[in-house]
Amino acid sequence: MADGPVNAIWLLHGVNLDMLGVRDPGHYGRITLAQLESQVVEDGAARGFEVRCFQTNHEGDFVEKVHQIAREGAAAVIVNAGAWTHYSYAIRDALELVDAPLAEVHLSAVEEREGWRRRSVIADLAAVRVSGKGAAGYAEALAALATAIEGGEAS
Ligand code: DQA
Repeated sequence: MADGPVNAIWLLHGVNLDMLGVRDPGHYGRITLAQLESQVVEDGAARGFEVRCFQTNHEGDFVEKVHQIAREGAAAVIVNAGAWTHYSYAIRDALELVDAPLAEVHLSAVEEREGWRRRSVIADLAAVRVSGKGAAGYAEALAALATAIEGGEAS
């Protein structure tokens, strides 16, 4: 299988998450995507990981990035796929190709919002799921992934 960078953790954001900071602060807070990414990069570095960030509003580009990660390998992947979480089987199928532990993160408490947000088509692929904790949820996911990686747990 892939034998890419063993210390690389990918942080993938999907549709509309480039609008963090201005988008619905009641649910998503005021943090911008750039601030969130640098926070996770710093957190990862403190744990000895190189966090690589990617965001797109285009589903096909997201799938292509996941394919690249599947080919190259990674230590883990953190995903907030935005609304795609709730219905994109294309993204689900792509994520299934990645041989590394996956964390599904949502800033808002998706399970307490509209019915359609309670469903995640990637949930069963995720070793770690965190929602409703804002930016702190990413630190929690990173810590859980680090434990999974150290313990050699499979994806
Ligand atoms: C989100 C929740 C999704 O329902 C929504 O479509 C998003 C953001 C979150 O981080 O809370 O875009 O994934």
